[in-house]
Amino acid sequence: IDESTPPDTLQSRTLDGIAKYINDGKAKRIVVMTGAGISTSAGIPDFRSPDTGLYANLARLDLPYAEAVFDISYFRKNPTPFYTLAQELYPGKYRPTITHSFIRLLHEKGLLLKLFTQNIDCLEREAGVPGDKIVEAHGSFARQSCIDCKSSYPDDKIKEHIQNKTIPRCLKPTCDGLVKPEIVFFGEQLPSDFFDNRDLPSEADLCVVMGTSLTVQPFASLPGFCSEGTPRVLINMEKVGGLGSRPDDVLLLGDCDTGVRNLAKACGWEQELEELWSKT
Ligand code: APR
Repeated sequence: IDESTPPDTLQSRTLDGIAKYINDGKAKRIVVMTGAGISTSAGIPDFRSPDTGLYANLARLDLPYAEAVFDISYFRKNPTPFYTLAQELYPGKYRPTITHSFIRLLHEKGLLLKLFTQNIDCLEREAGVPGDKIVEAHGSFARQSCIDCKSSYPDDKIKEHIQNKTIPRCLKPTCDGLVKPEIVFFGEQLPSDFFDNRDLPSEADLCVVMGTSLTVQPFASLPGFCSEGTPRVLINMEKVGGLGSRPDDVLLLGDCDTGVRNLAKACGWEQELEELWSKT
């Protein structure tokens, strides 16, 4: 054995190690977990980055505390801050990033087992990842309903209200409750789709975590469900959650668009990825 080349042991896993693992066909069931950090280069602020994050910039909405904008009990009292923000966040104005296209590329190659996202911007769908491969753990703007009687509310009407920054109320005359997009607020249950798929990471042979602070449960527990032998790659500005605690973990710290470009290049997919993204 050539002593100079470290054996493909757990510790020697690096970007090239992961690319080799993928190119050797050892990664056929990849689970991807994402947060707001993969949409910042599309122009959508994340939540907790010190200066640019949403929570640092909500002062203008004079909230008691930043996360109140997504708190269901606060929303009942005062829905205006959320609907002010909704106009800025509403899907349709942003282009997916190359990181979204990288996830689509994994799917095109038949390697994507499931994408768990915390994002509500629907950019994964717009990048061409099929709906049945996506778990929108914190819901999305795709549907809206009354928070009291739960009856659904028409898409065109909520779009109008969001454009005009007015507050939609239930169409049932006997109800008149507040209408809210089916985004999971603090204090609300995650969709059943999350719990139905929560064990999937244990079946994965590679896990990729991108653009999340892993601060919000139960999503933050997902990487821990990967079995011991499964390499976990973190592509994020900084080290988060338990990533890095296992010998098989690989930390690609820095901008995620750069990280996915480097990983694609190491896998020989650079051209394919750029072409896919250029058509998005
Ligand atoms: N490249 C890599 N990492 C980035 C980039 C980038 N371009 N931009 C931001 N990040 C990192 C930040 O450093 C941070 O670690 O992405 C992470 C974003 O963390 P948060 O702002 O906390 O976003 P997220 O993890 O998605 O928040 C989880 O909290 O407010 C609730 O429900 C909301 O889904 C959201 C949940």
